[in-house]
Amino acid sequence: MTIAVITGASSGLGKEYVRQVTEQLPTVDEIWLIARRLERLEMIAADFPSKTFRLLSLDLCRDEDLEAYRRALSESGATVSLLINNAGFGKLGDFAEMPTADQVGMVDLNCRALTAVTSLTLPHMAQGGGILNVSSIASYVPTPRMAVYCSTKAYVTSFSQALRAELRPCGIHVLAVCPGPMATEFLDVAAITGNSKTFQTLPYCRPETVARVSLNRLLCGNSWYTNRLFYKFYRVLAKLVPNRLLMKFTAV
Ligand SMILES: NC(=O)c1ccc[n+]([C@@H]2O[C@H](COP(=O)([O-])OP(=O)(O)OC[C@H]3O[C@@H](n4cnc5c(N)ncnc54)[C@H](OP(=O)(O)O)[C@@H]3O)[C@@H](O)[C@H]2O)c1
Repeated sequence: MTIAVITGASSGLGKEYVRQVTEQLPTVDEIWLIARRLERLEMIAADFPSKTFRLLSLDLCRDEDLEAYRRALSESGATVSLLINNAGFGKLGDFAEMPTADQVGMVDLNCRALTAVTSLTLPHMAQGGGILNVSSIASYVPTPRMAVYCSTKAYVTSFSQALRAELRPCGIHVLAVCPGPMATEFLDVAAITGNSKTFQTLPYCRPETVARVSLNRLLCGNSWYTNRLFYKFYRVLAKLVPNRLLMKFTAV
């Protein structure tokens, strides 16, 4: 049996990945959806009655839930053909004024959980498998007022590139996707809505497009994907211009 695993599948980009996996990977036997809100996962699965889902209500920041995922994988005996590490959150605000729990929570979910899920899944992957890590354009340049979030995403991008090089000989592809802002629950969770002029002026990406094209790029063996010309240019700029200059413009 082959399976695809999608974390953060209960809303936003993750929900779009569910649709894209059903359309682009019709031979996958089972799709595992992971998030804390089970009722949301049930509603999403109900949209695809011809597909087989396994719904895992897990808080990926809890060690016992990571252990439950490890057990479920080994008991299933399945081969994971695709892992989409999408669960993540951000918080807007000055570091000194943000609760410690929020700062550490971002590191826990965006870095620690992503690393743990990848490590637990890899032994169940085979040649031809793929890992898609959801990073962000925030990973390109340090971002004042989102200091921790952009640092966690810099980790995701860097980790993805190194892992890609390590796994290439085994025939497992790794892709980092770096979306710009998307109109999802992320904006409310991050307290961005109504609190950031920058976010009001930036061009937005459509989750449907990000999910469709990034999955397609992974299947083609690409290493990286950013949506929209504006953000592709931003990436080039980030490679050419020193951070201390660019950071005059990146505060959100
Ligand atoms: N929206 C943007 O502007 C934007 C831009 C660039 C990158 N991104 C990245 O895109 C990814 C998806 O975000 P989104 O925009 O789709 O936001 P979203 O709608 O808020 O989705 C976040 C997902 O993560 C899950 N999640 C949160 N905490 C979790 C936990 N402790 N354990 C398990 N699952 C958890 C949520 O499900 P439950 O609440 O049900 O657990 C939800 O399914 C994130 O990695 C984000 O950093 C977003």
